[in-house]
Amino acid sequence: MAELKTRVGIIGAGPAGLLLSHLLARAGLDSWVLERRSRAHVESRVRAGVLEQSAVDTLCRAGVGERLVREGIIHHGIELRFGDRAQRIDFEQLVPGRNITVYGQREIVKDLIEARLAGPNAHEPVSFEATEVGLTGLAAEEPVVHFTVGGQRHRLACDWVIGCDGFHGVSRDWLPKAGVKTYERTFPFAWLGVLANVEPSSRELVYALHERGFALHSMRSNDISRFYLQVSPDEDLRAWTDERIWAELTCRLATVPGWSLRTGPILEKNLAPLRSFVVEPMRHGRLLLAGDAAHIVPATGAKGLNLAVADVRLLSNALVAWYTHGSAELLDQYSETCLRRVWRVQQFSCWMTRLLHRFPSDDAFERRIQLAQLEAVATSRAGATSLAENYVGLEHV
Ligand code: FAD
Ligand code: PHB
Repeated sequence: MAELKTRVGIIGAGPAGLLLSHLLARAGLDSWVLERRSRAHVESRVRAGVLEQSAVDTLCRAGVGERLVREGIIHHGIELRFGDRAQRIDFEQLVPGRNITVYGQREIVKDLIEARLAGPNAHEPVSFEATEVGLTGLAAEEPVVHFTVGGQRHRLACDWVIGCDGFHGVSRDWLPKAGVKTYERTFPFAWLGVLANVEPSSRELVYALHERGFALHSMRSNDISRFYLQVSPDEDLRAWTDERIWAELTCRLATVPGWSLRTGPILEKNLAPLRSFVVEPMRHGRLLLAGDAAHIVPATGAKGLNLAVADVRLLSNALVAWYTHGSAELLDQYSETCLRRVWRVQQFSCWMTRLLHRFPSDDAFERRIQLAQLEAVATSRAGATSLAENYVGLEHV
């Protein structure tokens, strides 16, 4: 048994865990990150693409924004397509000075790992392929994280343990059952995600509602496009040949005269369920949760990673205040402050999901109401402004 010690034990090397450890290191606070998967695996997961300005600012201030600023693509609007209409939601007009940046989550993870392993904080440990992760000592406020790496058991004594291990992690189960409330909604569809080696067919993201279901055209760079198709939650990926994917994307997206979809080699396909989940509170004693470990929002609003960054920003400030001035105030407010934003974002993400997907239970009446709702967003400045404000990110929540 190897005996180890750190101030902050962090479970999970996704964006939340890596950014937290990085922010703490910059404030002179040591931490230890435990990750179940290999470095190559975490650096290759595709997932998010859209960053709010506040997430970009946080990454830049933390000294990990150099490549993001160089390679990220700033967008000043998105397009909604429904029926035979295409309506641009123009951020410059509706929410002047605010925008979003398209930069892949896996690039952020690579930048954070690089900073962690090669930068001035290179001594800060990340243990990849850590298994059998467990926690003891929470009741006595002397938490110890137990884990195995390379067949050897380790015992890591910490002041604080932060669960950043995503929705399928273990840390949420360490909260006592009594006093914890969870909220959950699964949607009756999933997203088939596609990464393709082809120049994007649109300069901005296109969100489309088609009779056959939702489709989204996004991108990663000038020659990599990202797409999503609404499919059934138990869809068999093997049934989706490249030809079928391009035919379905063309059918759902190419609904506007003069617009066509470029096709090319498909690099990756994956299936992601759409769900909402919140656990309350996000803290018990010396254990705190951040990011997807505490909350999931349906991806239609492009918000999960942005929420994770917002949690971690608050949490690193709270831990720094505790270590430097002995002040527990921010830590005590952490859960409540995060949850206020989480529920606002949950509402927006569910609303966008309702607006843009075909719900199998909808009858003809519901479908007409849905189109009328889209029409209202497209034709009313107030409706479009509300969408734009939420999409670029709520500033004062
Ligand atoms: P994760 O990224 O899930 O990281 C958790 C880490 O913990 C993982 O590395 C995991 O291997 C590790 N782990 C799990 N269990 C253990 C364990 N027992 N021990 C040790 N380690 C463990 N968000 C946006 O903001 N914008 C978008 O455009 C967007 N698009 C999305 C598109 C799709 C298809 C999906 C699925 C999500 C999207 N999201 C988006 C959401 C975003 O990807 C997540 O919110 C984000 O990954 C959350 O980061 P995290 O660090 O909290 O969790
Ligand atoms: C993405 O580019 O992966 C992406 C974009 C917008 C979303 C979800 C995902 O709403």
